[in-house]
Amino acid sequence: MNNFIYNIPTKILFGQGQVRNLGKELLPYGNKVLFLYGKNSIKRSGLYDEVVKTLSENGISFVELSGVDPNPRIETVKRGADLCKEHGLEIVLAVGGGSTIDCAKGIALQAKYDGDVWKDFYEDQKYENLKDSLHVASVLTLAATGSEMNGNSVISKLDTNQKLAIGSDKLRPVVSVLDPTYTFTVSKYQTAAGTVDIMSHIFEQYFSPDKGAYLQSRMMESLLKTVIHFGPKAYENPEDYEARANLMWASSLGLNGLLSCGKKNTDWATHMIEHELSAKYDITHGVGLGILTPYWMEYVLSPENVHRFVDYGKAVWKIPGTDSMDIARKSIEMTREFFINLGIPERLREIDIDDSKFEEMAEGATCRGPLGIMKKLEKKDVLEILKMAL
Ligand code: NZQ
Ligand code: ZN
Repeated sequence: MNNFIYNIPTKILFGQGQVRNLGKELLPYGNKVLFLYGKNSIKRSGLYDEVVKTLSENGISFVELSGVDPNPRIETVKRGADLCKEHGLEIVLAVGGGSTIDCAKGIALQAKYDGDVWKDFYEDQKYENLKDSLHVASVLTLAATGSEMNGNSVISKLDTNQKLAIGSDKLRPVVSVLDPTYTFTVSKYQTAAGTVDIMSHIFEQYFSPDKGAYLQSRMMESLLKTVIHFGPKAYENPEDYEARANLMWASSLGLNGLLSCGKKNTDWATHMIEHELSAKYDITHGVGLGILTPYWMEYVLSPENVHRFVDYGKAVWKIPGTDSMDIARKSIEMTREFFINLGIPERLREIDIDDSKFEEMAEGATCRGPLGIMKKLEKKDVLEILKMAL
């Protein structure tokens, strides 16, 4: 196991009714808030009113910005930052899914930065310039990205077809409310996409040829089994509290940094390829991942890394036998079937994606160098995976 520093400072308020404690938890960070949300889901569920209530009860004033898109746009980041500067706001409170929380992080950064965050951070990754930001807090309404507990922000720029990520501990939310009842209204489609996204984050950290960090691998298998157990339950019965609660906590644990502590390296190739799909076609992140993942697994599987698939197949899917390649292939098939049973398409053409932008996407995914660690993927490899997934 490699050395690591573990410091995840986000205070989590988990469970039904926790939103009523939000106001007082924000007070140490300020009393002027940008209240950021997406389209209508928080008004329909009544969460909007509850947030207003807890802010008002604690003397916290707020300015609203709504309409954050799935695959949030840089224009919204700029608009939010302007509002923060104009009104002297101190905290960006995101109420919604990963898109809203990611957008809040971009706003928090831009509000305290004189340059252009898109150019300097999302494009050029000049983290040495990241000195200050507003505080970010969140009320999570969709279990998927882990953004409620991590420092990542993924933002899109439609005119150039780019979707780029940044990550910094300085952007982790200071407080996040995780009330599973707010996810009761998540559609089947988004529940499936979220379930795939949680699993994919774990895969990206689990699948490396590295044999160290035994404990982290066992934690990841437990999380995968949990998500495989509860994902279909939430899909079938949206108001199953236990299922929603387990998915919600799995989403946070899946990508808050805990699982990769002590791991020599992690993969992230599937995510980089999916971000190209979302950038060019504005598709749902988890759906893109669900299509790509089994093909990525098939492409990277080799005698050198088969032991990881054997661990996965035996621990997560209980596949019997002794032939390593056979267990590995079955584990990939089980993964594919699981996604299909959640209504995830099997091929890109099912979501109207053809091969016309494959070259461009393969180029975009590898423009900062080869992807991944299970197998180093050059542009030609990414092209091959896209063709397999067509
Ligand atoms: O806009 P509203 O009305 O809120 O509707 C949203 C949106 O249409 C809806 N929704 C959210 N909560 C709901 C609900 N509908 C009914 N009831 C609720 N309780 O769901 C739709 C999708 O929301 P979105 O926030 O886009 O989903 P998700 O949480 O999956 O976030 C996806 C974004 O996060 C990025 C993705 O690339 C994508 O842009 N990611 C962020 C990561 C991170 N910060 O660490 C890592 C991920 O790998 C990912 O890349
Ligand atoms: Zn993801």
